[in-house]
This record gives sequence, structure tokens and C-alpha cells, in this order.
Amino acid sequence: MAIHPPENKLWWNEPIEKTEIIWVGLCLIWALIMFFMMPYWHLFGEQNLTNEAYKVEPEAHVERAEAMADKYTVREEGDTGIPVVRPPAGSDVFVVARLWEWWPILELEKDKTYRLHLSSADWMHGWSLQPTNLNVQVHPGYDFVVTVTPNQTGEFAVVCNEFCGIGHHTMLGKIYVVE
Ligand code: CUA
Repeated sequence: MAIHPPENKLWWNEPIEKTEIIWVGLCLIWALIMFFMMPYWHLFGEQNLTNEAYKVEPEAHVERAEAMADKYTVREEGDTGIPVVRPPAGSDVFVVARLWEWWPILELEKDKTYRLHLSSADWMHGWSLQPTNLNVQVHPGYDFVVTVTPNQTGEFAVVCNEFCGIGHHTMLGKIYVVE
């Protein structure tokens, strides 16, 4: 029961106030503009990644990454001995997101194209390449393929930008781009 029940119990049958109709109309027009901006930006904005996505079992994705690392590891880094993998140009590259690391470190060649496969071994993470600011949500069970052609050399950081627990802030990865 409301504190002040409306006098007319059929209030929903009353005519709508003019300003309210104007607001609803404006909102509708804006919603439609935003809706059509989505395909527009996708095609002409050069902002959205044109991803492919496939289903993959988390274990299968980890196996593919490990097989790639077994073949193409060039050195190891850090206390944990995380492999630095240099896959052949043009190849499929597998990156595992898991609590709390991006595995392995990659070493890519400038101006060569790679198909980066991103997937998670446990739950949702966010692959965020810095300072380039590429962002991809990474889910277990889905293989997100991003085709990249690095156009500058250097050391790039990968940070996790989806909160994934107590070690979220330590979930850092690395990509080297070399000549
Ligand atoms: Cu992984 Cu936050």
C-alpha cells in the first residue's frame, strides 16, 4: 500500500503529459542512433577489433600453448622460468590466461602477422595490451582469435583488466616485438 494512493485508480489510462512524450521520443531517437552507430563504427571507425571466436576446451587450449612452447622457446625469464616463445611469422600463437599469469611470454617480429589465440584455463580475464590499449575479454571455453601485425618494436605489457581475485593485480604478461 502506498502512503499516498492515487485518487484515480486507473492512472495508467490517463493521457500522457506532452513533455513526457517528447522525452520518450528523444530517448527513442537517441537509442536508434546509438544502435546504428554500432555497425557504423565497426565498419568505418577502425576502433573495434574484428575478432573470430571458436569454442575450445580449456585443457585443449593449454595443450596447444604447451606444444607451441615446447617447439619455439628461445629462453626463460624470471624466478619462475617463464618461457619466452618465438613462434614463426604468420603462425598461430596460443596464449593462456590463468590465475594469475599470461603464459607464455611472446617474442614477435615487427611487420609480421600472427593469429593470437586467447583463452582462459580457469575463469574470466581481460587481455589488455599496453600502451597500445588493445582490450579483449578472455573466457574459458572460448578461443578468441585476434590477428595482429605489430608495427613497432619494443617491450609491451599485458595486464589483466577483469577482476579475477586476490592476485589480479599481479597478473602481468609481456610481449617483445623485435626486428
Ligand atoms: Cu586475470 Cu584479473
